[in-house]
Amino acid sequence: MSRIKGMSMEWSDFNLIFIDQRKLPLEEVYVQCTTYTQVATAIKDMIVRGAPAIGASAAFGYVLGAKEFEKKTKDSFILKMAEVKNVLAATRPTAVNLFWALERMERKMKTTIFENTPYETVRILEDEAIAVAQEDIKVNQTLGEYGAQLIKDGDTVLTHCNAGALATFDYGTALGVIRAAVKSGKKIKVYADETRPYLQGARLTVWELMKDNIDVTLISDNMAGWVMHKGLINAVIVGADRIAANGDTANKIGTYSVSILAKYHSIPFYIAAPVSTIDIKSETGDDIPIEERDHNEVRYCHKLKMVPDSVKVFNPSFDVTPHINISGIITEKGVLRAPYDLSIKKILL
Ligand code: MRU
Repeated sequence: MSRIKGMSMEWSDFNLIFIDQRKLPLEEVYVQCTTYTQVATAIKDMIVRGAPAIGASAAFGYVLGAKEFEKKTKDSFILKMAEVKNVLAATRPTAVNLFWALERMERKMKTTIFENTPYETVRILEDEAIAVAQEDIKVNQTLGEYGAQLIKDGDTVLTHCNAGALATFDYGTALGVIRAAVKSGKKIKVYADETRPYLQGARLTVWELMKDNIDVTLISDNMAGWVMHKGLINAVIVGADRIAANGDTANKIGTYSVSILAKYHSIPFYIAAPVSTIDIKSETGDDIPIEERDHNEVRYCHKLKMVPDSVKVFNPSFDVTPHINISGIITEKGVLRAPYDLSIKKILL
């Protein structure tokens, strides 16, 4: 029996168990998935969210799909697996880690199935999904160490949304950098933007950092400029959902505004993300699909209705920060600097 446990999910004996991120921080509730369609729903409904966590979930979801069809003939198994991939891929459009993980799993399936039965293939796919999760932790720790070198003892870092252990299999990207800096003995403070409308910063980042006894102060999004003006912020570090070939970066809505504020105040603005978040097929940020979510996310503040249903709403879930606003992209292969088209090409060679 194989199992692996991270903060966002646990895989155990063909069960995928998520901490329900919709309920945090007030309730710690777990949701168990035994089918790939349940995993697809969990991703769509934001039980699990955050680009690398979505990728790992899709990898395990793919295994659950394979298990469901393990008694089929090889030909119909292959056909069914195309369906499984499509259902999982149709959940959320922006985080490229979803498609990266599904393509990796499909490649493994295709190279395995010809010399193995579907039953045997399922076990090999399970090992592959576990490798995706294990690598995610390792990659975050490595990029965390690179990023920690950019922060000085006594610094205060502003972050937006949640790019922590909950947004990955474990450890986190932007919060991985904070964790590594704290581990190296530096005294670091964090300001967390609340991140309207879904409040990932207020509900998730603050919860995670408080659990780790890291000094965190919650601000509403409209306070970021003022705390920078007051000299309270030394660096901004955020995660990413998709990085284009020229370094333009899609991340949670509001990141773009924070990057402009950082530039105006001459504060370094860093992206922390695994190489799997780079999408070389997107030439610039204009090629990145931006998810638009349910308008009630804006009409409501968490569960409290703020305005009548008839109020017109626009709810893009992500924005794109132009590469010219980015001081560095922290990856497991080192910190990439401008010109990003060249530094990105170099690490992908
Ligand atoms: O809509 P979400 O909560 O999935 O969006 C998450 C973000 O935008 C994160 O900042 C990003 O995925 C980086 S996660 C390490």
